[in-house]
Amino acid sequence: MNDLTHHPAADRLRPLLSPLTVRGLTVANRVVMAPMTREKAVDRAPGDDVVGYYRRRAENHVGLIVTEGIGVDDPVAVDMPGVPVLHGDAALAGWRRVVEAVHGAGGKILPQLWHQGAMRDPTNSTAPDLGSRRPSGILGPLGKVSLEPDHIARLLPETDPMTDSEIGDVIAAYARSAANAVRLGFDGVALHGGHGYLIDNFLWGGTNLRTDRWGGDHRGRTTFAVELVRAIRRAIGEEQPIMLRFSQFKMQDYNARLADTPKQLGEILGPIADAGVDIFDGSQRYFDTPVFEGSPLNLGGWAKKLTGKVGMCVGGVGLDQGRRDHHVDSGSGASDNLGKLIERFERGEVDLIGVGRSLLNDPAWLARALRGEPFLPFDQANLQRLT
Ligand SMILES: Cc1cc2nc3c(=O)[nH]c(=O)nc-3n(C[C@H](O)[C@H](O)[C@H](O)COP(=O)(O)O)c2cc1C
Repeated sequence: MNDLTHHPAADRLRPLLSPLTVRGLTVANRVVMAPMTREKAVDRAPGDDVVGYYRRRAENHVGLIVTEGIGVDDPVAVDMPGVPVLHGDAALAGWRRVVEAVHGAGGKILPQLWHQGAMRDPTNSTAPDLGSRRPSGILGPLGKVSLEPDHIARLLPETDPMTDSEIGDVIAAYARSAANAVRLGFDGVALHGGHGYLIDNFLWGGTNLRTDRWGGDHRGRTTFAVELVRAIRRAIGEEQPIMLRFSQFKMQDYNARLADTPKQLGEILGPIADAGVDIFDGSQRYFDTPVFEGSPLNLGGWAKKLTGKVGMCVGGVGLDQGRRDHHVDSGSGASDNLGKLIERFERGEVDLIGVGRSLLNDPAWLARALRGEPFLPFDQANLQRLT
């Protein structure tokens, strides 16, 4: 395994450079490329440009890559045509090449399985006549949002709430996609359970008003996630880890909260951990924002403390602004906030750090940190291309 400790600035980064083993996966260091939608798939399959994009991050020492969100095997999982899927010959062949390239460069990679649920925009999809899947048919209460008004208007019409059999079908779709992933050689699977997409739609009281077994109080609302994780575990076996991303904020409302207290968060994450999640990726816009009063812990830190599982945090590493603070996707330039991050690792609060835009901007971001070089300023144009 790649030993990075001889690099000039490695001493400072040492807490991020030790390996970590989760089930059958060993990552060389704690830096994880966060999932980022790039919309470069053609006919929903990743091409050579995508293969090279992920390979360059692995070549530059990123310990674990989580891919862009990938639609699960359900016709209404995702909207934008450039978002890839994980079924069908072309997409599977493309992902196999991605996996081989990353492994060839010494990296590890998980696909992020994605179902957009309430946030899917049918008019901007390849299946405009099919309605979206929502636990209670609603988009949920809107608060502070970054979506344009016409985008919100397209999402507002209510759909039929999912039936029991549709819920079963979607769970089966996740399990099929997860099995495909492991068959291709992915090192486990990551689930997008935050930001107002399907799994989160079941977890959050704003989008789940059901009174049957899929709803109820915050514990009842975990049933979908629990059944989903169990089905995936059955489909992939015991060797590969399952990572779950979750968040307080939603695309529908940046100020929304999944849990008001640590106790509630524990009651939500506990059953999901028992079902088979190994890594909790607590998605925040800034990794150093405390979640509950009276403690500096971030969301990943709370997940680790409450479940005993691997905790991962994310948000603003190497940048001086959180995503979408000014209705744009970029931060405003580079920042070396690694010191604050390293302190959290030294205290044992979290185990993994997700790095999004810094690694989108510069494939050699971690290599640069290891050499002690300043980070490159964020270039907006990189949001559109695969550097
Ligand atoms: C262009 C772009 C696309 C993103 N797409 C996804 C996605 O598909 N799935 C997801 O869970 N998060 C997605 N995110 C959020 C990132 O994973 C990350 O949590 C966020 O950018 C904050 O981390 P950062 O400050 O290091 O960029 C995306 C972010 C960006 C900038």
